[in-house]
Amino acid sequence: LDDWQFEFNENEDVVNLKLAAGSLRDSDIPVAFPTETVYGLGADATRSNAVLGIYKAKQRPSDNPLICHFASLQQLRDLLRPISNECSAEQLEDPIPPIYKSVIQKFWPGPLTIILPNPKNSPLAPEVTAGLHTFGARMPRNLLALLVIKLANVPVAAPSANASTKPSPTAAEHVKNDLHGRIDYILDGGPCDVGVESTVVDGLSDPPAILRPGGVSIEQLRSCAGWEDVVVGYKDAAEASGVPRAPGMKYRHYSPAASVLLYESNAISPTLETPRKQEMSSIGIVRTRKWEPAFVENPTSGSPLKVWDINLGPNVEDIARGLFSALRELDKKQVDVIFVEGIADEEGDVAAAVMNRLRKAAEVNVT
Ligand code: TXA
Ligand code: MG
Repeated sequence: LDDWQFEFNENEDVVNLKLAAGSLRDSDIPVAFPTETVYGLGADATRSNAVLGIYKAKQRPSDNPLICHFASLQQLRDLLRPISNECSAEQLEDPIPPIYKSVIQKFWPGPLTIILPNPKNSPLAPEVTAGLHTFGARMPRNLLALLVIKLANVPVAAPSANASTKPSPTAAEHVKNDLHGRIDYILDGGPCDVGVESTVVDGLSDPPAILRPGGVSIEQLRSCAGWEDVVVGYKDAAEASGVPRAPGMKYRHYSPAASVLLYESNAISPTLETPRKQEMSSIGIVRTRKWEPAFVENPTSGSPLKVWDINLGPNVEDIARGLFSALRELDKKQVDVIFVEGIADEEGDVAAAVMNRLRKAAEVNVT
């Protein structure tokens, strides 16, 4: 990416891309852009007012640190270099801690966020790190994301581009629904590939830790040199690199307006009796692996019940890709309750990332 020359025709898409990049660099109103995980709401990570613009648009509490997005390793190294006069010759050559070499090689660009020490005299605005001595860095693989970061030529702080507490946006339309009137630019890259956020890892702790499950699984991480013993969450808080478990995890999140009833994979399947007895008029169902289509059929007796059925299918990648979109679609139908069929998860796998989001979205968790 470093030596790219832009020789595009000045069609509408290119003009918009350039305007969005200019706005990202110069204005305090954030710009929404696609990534392979979810849509991000980006701002120049080096300017406090721009970063505050993100919190304002999202109405998000500001004690939650943001991930910084880079278009190239060179851009990340340049940011880390202020510490170079204090470090070894090896670090001088590459200021990225060696533990990250294998995972960067394997997963970047892609859905992995690494925790790095924030250098002394860091150019990052303090609002990005929310007072921590570390920051999260990621290189997305979506081309529009890489282009807009490269054109703006600044590290881009970006949380998901939803209103705070809402499901993360996996299409430009979702961003528009949440943030219309609050932002000037939404780059439309179509639906997101992965559908859940990046995996956040801390390689500075021993053993390395997964702070947030996401698009890269623990199994995939374990195949990388130095990451064979990676654990979910810190093994021993005292051993950690001095930061709390990803602080964002404590907030209610990912919730549609309707109440979500999440059935764990081993719970008994629901029947339509409950919503009927409670005289609900419409419900949504998100099915995955086992629930019978019979469950969604409207029987002839009983009070009328409108049922909206979404079948995501059994495949975990498909479920991750379609989940947030399904919740939003059912919200549009203004259903009273959404019944969701959970899937079996093991610590650190992509199913765990899905269930992590669903458990936060759920009002009731049926086990
Ligand atoms: O896929 C993604 O990562 C999306 C797209 C837009 O790139 N971004 C995203 O960012 O999910 P955000 O800001 O919503 O999530 C940041 C997560 C939170 O759980 C936060 O607590 C954690 O990363 N985090 C950020 N900096 C951290 C740090 N220095 N130490 C520990 N956790 C950190
Ligand atoms: Mg988010």
